[in-house]
Amino acid sequence: MMDAVIDEIDGRMIRVGDHWLADFASCNYLGFDLDREIIDAVPAYLDAWGTHPSWSRLLGSPVLYEQIEERLTSLLGSPDSLVLPTITHIHMSVIPLLAASGTIFLDARAHKTIYDGCQVARSRGAAVKRFRFEDPDHLDELLRAERDPTRLICMDGVNSMTGNAPDLPAFAAVARKHGALLYVDDAHGFGVIGERSPHEPCPYGVRGNSVVRHTGETYDDIVLVGGFSKSYSSLLAFIACPTDVKNLLKVAAPPYLYSGPSPVASLATVLAGFDVNERRGDELRRILAERTRRVTDCLHRLGVHTPNRSGFPIVEIPLHDHRRIDAVGRILFERGVYVTLAAYPLVPKDEVGFRVQLTAANTDAEIDMLIAALEELAAAGELKTYDAATLAALD
Ligand SMILES: Cc1ncc(COP(=O)(O)O)c(C=O)c1O
Repeated sequence: MMDAVIDEIDGRMIRVGDHWLADFASCNYLGFDLDREIIDAVPAYLDAWGTHPSWSRLLGSPVLYEQIEERLTSLLGSPDSLVLPTITHIHMSVIPLLAASGTIFLDARAHKTIYDGCQVARSRGAAVKRFRFEDPDHLDELLRAERDPTRLICMDGVNSMTGNAPDLPAFAAVARKHGALLYVDDAHGFGVIGERSPHEPCPYGVRGNSVVRHTGETYDDIVLVGGFSKSYSSLLAFIACPTDVKNLLKVAAPPYLYSGPSPVASLATVLAGFDVNERRGDELRRILAERTRRVTDCLHRLGVHTPNRSGFPIVEIPLHDHRRIDAVGRILFERGVYVTLAAYPLVPKDEVGFRVQLTAANTDAEIDMLIAALEELAAAGELKTYDAATLAALD
């Protein structure tokens, strides 16, 4: 299940050669990639703008960008926002600019693209120190000992492996106490989780406006990065920041100055995605939460370990024996279940396993196939199990 060529799709079923599989490796959490209303919105934009504007944003920004930034800023409730092609572009260019020659405090398990952005910053004179994952006290300790007045903290929002959100208020409090700027990548949270509401149809909250709003935080001393390439199924990303930071990036960030822009079809699917999110997003998130719940309930019933405590739609399942990854991958493939494999040395040996991602477009029948495969793997002793005490606590 690596480097597979997908020959055809039918909903969330994919064909690899002559083999059909249910896809649980997609990040299209809201199912916007298959949404008829969004697909039908694209041709009018192509008629109006052609397929690709080709100017860098500095040279010429089609008004679609302004429309996207206005709607995004309003959705997030942020001071301002700037959109650029990908999160990777943003990390590589914005982290070095914000860090300058100061000190970066990097989450020890930050996504590789954040880590790479920090490496670029380091090559330009910043120092990089790592704090322990999910440990605001360790961050506090490091910041207390720090003399450098320029401090940038870089971390994930919803974690792409555990599926959990950080305790953002705790990290923000540490950042504010020490005069640091908190830079958060919520690639997986944007579109999935949002502000809490007494009327929310599921614990993901409403509107999908990301981890800052979900945790009741403000944007004071927080810069939020997110992308449309997961929940919104489009090639575009954003940084939510104060207007003076946006203005700085418009003269200093290479992706704004030089990079080719997102295709018009992506700008169109973002705009159409905002409309669908407004009208149907909360119902799609309810379905997504329900589908995810079926999988996590199954794991609890089987006593199988997962780091997912949140109920968000990323469910990592470690193996009992890391050496069995090829065999387990083969069984899943033969049972028609497509997942992301996490093999050593990409992850530590005790975390080798596979990651299941749910989307609102997965059907109950596809989840039945996944559950049958999980039951078979658990019965064969292939999956890591909880000890009795942890199981009792889960109940
Ligand atoms: C946490 C996180 N950040 C960034 C990225 C990369 O995003 P983009 O494709 O917009 O560069 C990913 C993709 O896997 C991710 O999981």
